[in-house]
Amino acid sequence: MTSRPSIAFAKFAAPKKGSVFVLAANDGGLGDAAKACDPAKTLERAFPVADFSGKFAGLVEVLAPEGTSLDRLVAVGAGKVSGLDDHAWLKLGGTITTSFRKATEVAVVLDLPGADVGGSQAAQLAAGILLRSYAFDKYKTKKENGDGQRDGNKAEPKKPVKVTIHTTDPGAAKKAFADEVAVIDGVLLARDLVNEPANILGPVEFAARVNELEALGVTVEILVEKEMKKLGMGALLGVAQGSPRGARLAIMRWNGGKAKDSPIAFVGKGVTFDTGGNSIKTASGMEDMKGDMGGAAAVTGLMHALAARKAKANVVGIVGLVENAVDGHAQRPGDIVTSMSGQTIEVLNTDAEGRLVLADALWYCNDRFQPKFMVNLATLTGAIMVALGQHYAGLFSNNDELANRLTSAGQATQERVWRMPLGTEYDKLIDSKNADMKNIGGRYGGAIIAAQFLQRFVKDTPWAHLDIAGTAIGAPSSEINQSWASGFGVRLLDRLVRDNYEG
Ligand code: BES
Ligand code: MN
Ligand code: ZN
Repeated sequence: MTSRPSIAFAKFAAPKKGSVFVLAANDGGLGDAAKACDPAKTLERAFPVADFSGKFAGLVEVLAPEGTSLDRLVAVGAGKVSGLDDHAWLKLGGTITTSFRKATEVAVVLDLPGADVGGSQAAQLAAGILLRSYAFDKYKTKKENGDGQRDGNKAEPKKPVKVTIHTTDPGAAKKAFADEVAVIDGVLLARDLVNEPANILGPVEFAARVNELEALGVTVEILVEKEMKKLGMGALLGVAQGSPRGARLAIMRWNGGKAKDSPIAFVGKGVTFDTGGNSIKTASGMEDMKGDMGGAAAVTGLMHALAARKAKANVVGIVGLVENAVDGHAQRPGDIVTSMSGQTIEVLNTDAEGRLVLADALWYCNDRFQPKFMVNLATLTGAIMVALGQHYAGLFSNNDELANRLTSAGQATQERVWRMPLGTEYDKLIDSKNADMKNIGGRYGGAIIAAQFLQRFVKDTPWAHLDIAGTAIGAPSSEINQSWASGFGVRLLDRLVRDNYEG
């Protein structure tokens, strides 16, 4: 089983016997402290042969080098002498992780000519190692042999690799890393929730996972059907009624800010499985719908991150948890439900269920907390993938300042968002003959229509909707993620809060 690397920071020192020794080099070569390490010469000799010029993310490896007790020497390119941004350091951490393989001890030396590698850079690198090391393999009972095949032997837990990062200011690195770990743990929690199959993780089980955040000082309330019924949440409950598994609304509160400050709020779609209901999906790819709670997972991961790093902000997280299943009780196309807002909805397609769940969750959030703003996250439409592919989430907002802040946070974390339009021409496409609105529009602009629907439940509160259908699940593998679930949204929103709403 994969186990999490343990990470320490230290001043420059000789690595332990049998270590994998990783030296960062930029286009000026190695720094003086790196050069002073005994095996540096052996490694440098390989640079021209390997055509290594310090180019970003380039790797050179020398195996079992003569004259040292080290197992492997690795140089990794840190790019130009002019330096790297935060995200590049994160990616570099992910990149060097590929060179660890079966190592139990790794020493990384961060000493670059002309570049100032401070605590925050070292911390980002360490965070990249943790993100890249994640694998969802808890259900693999057979051990992997060298060829990536699983043989018949029972998996033994792999010894966690010990990584020591040698840098000029280990104290500063350690301090910066403590905050990073809070965020990374939030990302990994979100990935775990999304990867978990729906037979194991239904609404009730998800709510139990949310409850665990109380250990970090988060206040958690879980509403059950009876309470939601009393509140009039007919839209959310209509989705849930075809499943025997029950619905939950989980409310998380982190009060790290001033008592009088109104909170900021995050709301997540938590459809633990989406069959489509009576408007049933086709078989091919339906298994991906275990990840239809990616928005709720991101909100839960974010609350973990904020509480674990004791963010100085008042934050509310709300997740609407249902299974969209189909049995004799399931809602039918043409059914009309009344939402908590009092607005009626004609459900013309039971597969457009996420917006129904969010309609009540957003209304509840606004009504109870009067937040400064609300950001909701949802794997809401296939249409957003048609529009943006898998590298940007769709951003819809009624507020330019909030939209701009999200865009900047997206650039900084490389969890990027692209703003899409809203407007009355689109809004009228969901007017219904038989009720206040219908839950689908016409053939075109499906992601926008879904956003227009949500906007009918937010009044004038500054609001943004992130359609993460393309970015949260089926993630293309990257330097910092090899798993199907990316945990998209946690780093983005942590950054939004950090840069704009603390202190
Ligand atoms: N959960 C899906 C959207 C989705 C699709 C997320 C693929 C991730 C990957 C959502 O509930 C849905 O079914 N949307 C429909 C809406 C349509 C019926 C208007 C869609 O996108 O096809
Ligand atoms: Mn659906
Ligand atoms: Zn869905």
